Amino acid sequence: MIEKPKVCVVVPIEEDLEAQIRAKCNIHQVDFGAPRAELLAAVRDAEGILLTPRVRADAEFFQAAPKLRVLSTTSVGYDPFDIPEATKHGVVVCHTPGVLTGAVANLTMTCILSLAIKLFENEAYVRSGGWGRNETRPGLGMDVQGKTLGVIGFGRIGQEVTRRMQALGMRTLWYDVFTEPHPSAPPSEYRPLDDLLAESDFVTLHTNLDEASHHLIGPAQLARMKPTAFLINTARGRLVDQPALAQALQSGQIAGAALDVLESEPPDPDEPIVRLPNVICFPHIGSATEETRRAMRELAVQNLLAVLAGERPPAPVNPEVLD
Ligand code: DGY
Repeated sequence: MIEKPKVCVVVPIEEDLEAQIRAKCNIHQVDFGAPRAELLAAVRDAEGILLTPRVRADAEFFQAAPKLRVLSTTSVGYDPFDIPEATKHGVVVCHTPGVLTGAVANLTMTCILSLAIKLFENEAYVRSGGWGRNETRPGLGMDVQGKTLGVIGFGRIGQEVTRRMQALGMRTLWYDVFTEPHPSAPPSEYRPLDDLLAESDFVTLHTNLDEASHHLIGPAQLARMKPTAFLINTARGRLVDQPALAQALQSGQIAGAALDVLESEPPDPDEPIVRLPNVICFPHIGSATEETRRAMRELAVQNLLAVLAGERPPAPVNPEVLD
């Protein structure tokens, strides 16, 4: 009898998805908060691992897992995983693009609109009793129609944000490491990064985090932005030099920011940026709806089982390993 491959499951999943894996594999459950040594011991004889981006997979991890064939994450982002190292060890890394595009675009749209109309300032004014005491109201907001949105990262999510905000009457610009947009991308004007920053009323980030994009937005880029402009980051915290952003927000170099991601998550309880009056901040909720998270886990399980069955997975990050 052929023994089923061992799979480490380091993410809570629904019973039906677990049953799909169990039908083909022996599951070893590991808590994602488990000590590193426990995880490394568990992957020693594992052929697959299902995990979240909260778990780091570096050279030490891949060395500890000599039988590993597939690392399947329940996220679109794969920045905590050393992809060249995975490729060197013959491990296919798979992720979940597409299924969370709408959810992240919705959050981004909500952030842009909330900043524009001072939604959270007004909500806080009422909640704290300011309206009841007839105190001075927060100032007026601004219309988004006719304003310019700069989209940095023109992949699936950047394109979807562009569509939504064009529908609301915004003029849109885009920047990416490529200059030819995907054929299905909405019509939008390309700008080099510095020009996009200088022209935009709202700048939104939708690019992968890697060595090249780390601190893509730092002091020099913030200095290019208008003092009336807003920065929205629903992608990855480390795309932005956070202390430089805090400084720009405090000095009035830019008008405000909406942040769903931070350089360190969860942040230090005393992290000052989350308390600035011109910042709205959320605990990384871009994909946090029941339907989207379920779809992400389904795709992650499909990816996992496909590789273990010797089939092409729906969403490999390093397909060269399969070739
Ligand atoms: C993703 O899928 O990368 C989201 O940011 C959740 O981590």
